[in-house]
Amino acid sequence: MSNTPDWSGGYVTDIDYTYHFFRELSPLHLRFSALMAGYRPFLQSVPPPSQSEKFVYCELGCGNGVSTNIFAAAHPEGQFFGIDYMPSHINFASGLARQAGLDNIHFLEADFRQLDKEDIPSCDFIVCHGVYSWISQENQAAIRKFVKEKLKPGGIFYVSYNCLPGWAAKAPIQHLYHMFGHSSQGDTLEQVDQAMAKFDQAFATGKGYFEAQQQSIQKQLNAIKKQEKSYVPHEYFNQDWHLFYHTDIISQFQEAKLSWVGSAVLFDLYIESVLGEEAKQILDQYKDPGIKETLKDYFINKQFRKDVFMRGPLKISPREQSRLLLETKFCLTVLRENLTLEMTINGANFNGKADTYLPIADALAESPKTLAELVNLPALEGKGLANVLQTVCCLMDSGQASICEPLNKKAQKSMRQMNLAILEQAQYAKKIDMMLCPSARTGIGVSWLQQIFIKALLEKQSPEQVAWQAMLALGERMPSKEGKPLTTEQENLAALHDKFLEFEKIRPQIFKLLGLDGKA
Ligand SMILES: C[S@@+](CC[C@H](N)C(=O)[O-])C[C@H]1O[C@@H](n2cnc3c(N)ncnc32)[C@H](O)[C@@H]1O
Repeated sequence: MSNTPDWSGGYVTDIDYTYHFFRELSPLHLRFSALMAGYRPFLQSVPPPSQSEKFVYCELGCGNGVSTNIFAAAHPEGQFFGIDYMPSHINFASGLARQAGLDNIHFLEADFRQLDKEDIPSCDFIVCHGVYSWISQENQAAIRKFVKEKLKPGGIFYVSYNCLPGWAAKAPIQHLYHMFGHSSQGDTLEQVDQAMAKFDQAFATGKGYFEAQQQSIQKQLNAIKKQEKSYVPHEYFNQDWHLFYHTDIISQFQEAKLSWVGSAVLFDLYIESVLGEEAKQILDQYKDPGIKETLKDYFINKQFRKDVFMRGPLKISPREQSRLLLETKFCLTVLRENLTLEMTINGANFNGKADTYLPIADALAESPKTLAELVNLPALEGKGLANVLQTVCCLMDSGQASICEPLNKKAQKSMRQMNLAILEQAQYAKKIDMMLCPSARTGIGVSWLQQIFIKALLEKQSPEQVAWQAMLALGERMPSKEGKPLTTEQENLAALHDKFLEFEKIRPQIFKLLGLDGKA
């Protein structure tokens, strides 16, 4: 029997997608990306945004809906729509929304090609993450039609995709995985194992392509092996797998009346600063932003883009832009002791300079600060606005800081309900590995075990016992020092106790980040 039913159009539908959260899809982040690129975000008062401003947000191909659920809880003033044609995804996503008591989100089981049958209002935001490269040209056209018809003037569209030239040397890996996978037996996950083994066998010969591209193949294989297994078929087994140059995407969406304004990866604005003089001089020869950006993709061998478009974007004057930026408030989204200067952005590692990063981290750990307040920190005297802003952007890109929003009662309540729903889910499944940070209105990483400890503490139960019962139900065991599963209850409880003691040290800071006051 085929693993891809007729309605799927060749997309892998027998394996549910992962339950990840993507902070770049946040309405606040998208507005900030537009502002950074020099465009007026559509709402008048950005930032700080007025909390009464209503908006409509739609995610196309929302998967299990974790991101959209989180943003709906964070923004009760918005109306959210999540669209996906896999019933199991919509079932999970709407279950989480129900459990959190959200009344501003609608998950629709629909195919991109049939969106005109759905009752969706005009949108201020449309986002499409991890979808566009993996669907047919007919579906891509359906997305462009939807965006053309539904995005309001001044609205923001986000699309991510696999791009060239970063994939050029590695595209043949996908071809073989796809070919080997589809000629293997068993269910999709068994096919993944077989395809990977067959590829490794061919790679080990070190012949031809495998020799010429040895380094980039090895790098990609390491990355694949780090991924959850359920991700692999979604990336490699779809009938459709399209690579785009940035300029292809610009012209495709021009048809939908959209203009490219920038990237949701803020560091993309600063790439020139790490390229060196020779590359900079070449870039300076080009005025067209699309050509410039594409050349930058070549200089950093980019393989995944997160593009931000607007419909009828309005340029903002540098004076107004800097006023709005200076008024923007930022906060940390990690514990200060976990903040690292070794960051990975666009797949590249780099170290932040301690004399700029640390004073900013310390100040934000104390309390949220506006950019103006950060620039005026005595420890940053002489660093300058541009330098401080770049540092904050890198902290945001590496998931360590975020825009900070004033809280109101309604948002506080819905975010707390969402956090409690995530804790409830943790008892029965290890799926969502994040929770909401209310001051940032975004998700932050919280491991399954931390979630279980938090739940037990809120309910005044023994954290080790609650964790052990949950592990028993999931068939999980704590690992020994050698990484083998511990067998007896006593051993497991002792290992859990050690973990809980570690957690206890950071408990007050985690509770503060998550806006939990200790009451259930
Ligand atoms: C790789 S997943 C990305 C999910 C989510 N955006 C994320 O990044 O976590 C792609 C999603 O698109 C959905 N999809 C693919 N083709 C579709 C179609 N023709 N109509 C609606 N949804 C589709 C799939 O079911 C899947 O959930």
